Amino acid sequence: MKTLCPLLLAGAIALAQPSPPFRARVRPAAPAGGSMPAGKPVTIPAPLGLPPVPFPADNPPTAETIALGHRLFFDKLLSRDGTVACASCHLPKAAMADPRPVSLGVNGGVGGRNAPSILNAAYHDTQFWDGRARSLEEQAAMPVPDGVEMAHSLTGVERRLAANPAYVKLFAKAFGPGRITFEMAAKAIASYERTLLSGNSPFDRYQFGGDKKALSEAAIRGLALFSDATLDGPNCISCHRIEDKFATFTESRFHNSGVAWDEEKRAYKDKGRIAVTGTPKDAGAFKAVTLRNITLTAPYMHDGSMQTLEEVLDFYFEGGRRNPLLSGVMPHHGVPNIPKAEQAQAKADLVEFLKALTGDMPAGAAPPGPVEAKR
Ligand code: HEC
Ligand code: HEC
Repeated sequence: MKTLCPLLLAGAIALAQPSPPFRARVRPAAPAGGSMPAGKPVTIPAPLGLPPVPFPADNPPTAETIALGHRLFFDKLLSRDGTVACASCHLPKAAMADPRPVSLGVNGGVGGRNAPSILNAAYHDTQFWDGRARSLEEQAAMPVPDGVEMAHSLTGVERRLAANPAYVKLFAKAFGPGRITFEMAAKAIASYERTLLSGNSPFDRYQFGGDKKALSEAAIRGLALFSDATLDGPNCISCHRIEDKFATFTESRFHNSGVAWDEEKRAYKDKGRIAVTGTPKDAGAFKAVTLRNITLTAPYMHDGSMQTLEEVLDFYFEGGRRNPLLSGVMPHHGVPNIPKAEQAQAKADLVEFLKALTGDMPAGAAPPGPVEAKR
């Protein structure tokens, strides 16, 4: 192991402040008038490596809301012209991410960002690259009126659902009889999304399951590099977190790693988090997204600008993209802890580790079967 100057180490510790520990987020009950699921709440089992699933008090998951949400997620009826479903941009074959750098919506409209995987989105404190949605419920209502994505109105969707006898039955089972509201649809979709958990990867079996053979030697070296929380090492773990009993590989804070910086124009191509907070230091900052199933979700970053993990590692080993607000936790100086001659091997080891983060696919990641014929 390399010895570190104690002063440097102290600085690194002071700068690389860990985030507050992961909290299960439970929101207060809905204001009077909000719909409540009618059925019996169910427990969604968390796979090895993931914590219990948080959910809001006014939307406990039930078998009926989950089944309804599953159907809605795959239904193009949500978009104005019936051509786009949630699953059109969050594809089962790409671990519920979009293999296109940026998504296409109705009429081939081009979006500005890459669609992230929604596996394990149940654990996110906020949704979207800039965190502008505070819950899955809130998020689920946003793609519908988005002019590029689904270009529909929430009342338009409500009318369409009310005119569909199969949905009338499914909503009555899930929320009781009465008028179908988009709030119900959003709650059902959110409950379905909370079942999209993927864990039990080789890393989980090694780290949390006691199976020391689950990782290759290279991946074990990669894990050590990943977890080197000094500012002159890769320091991945400061932003993509591994806790004692589980790992989401994400965190609630937003960071500027420089991906959005345009050196020629000396400006951010995408404002990022500042659009939500208005705080100048948040310009060009994005959510530290999960790395689970990362080999299935290329291309990478909010703009889909990196095609391979090798490219991502070159980016970090160069210290990110220099810009006036580059995060203090980025490996600014490249990674001087690792001698130049050993860097190619270190990158290869890190890639082996990232490959070991591919987990089991949840059953709900496949399209739903036909509506049951029985009444
Ligand atoms: C036209 C493509 C498209 C459609 C349709 C679409 N999404 Fe997305 N989704 C995206 C993109 C792109 C992002 C990232 C946008 C951003 O961060 O600004 C995203 C982000 C998300 C996120 C946040 C994930 C995270 O890690 O922050 C969730 C959850 C989500 N979508 C669920 C849905 C649901 C539910 C629907 C259907 C109601 C849907 N999406 C429809 C493209 C799409
Ligand atoms: C300062 C915090 C920080 C550090 C340190 C950090 N990351 Fe990230 N990571 C982020 C953020 C923020 C993003 C999203 C950036 C964007 O899209 O603009 C990201 C994105 C990624 C992505 C792409 C994810 C996707 O789905 O597109 C990968 C892969 C990744 N990081 C791996 C690593 C590795 C490996 C390390 C260590 C060498 C590391 N990160 C260090 C914050 C960090």
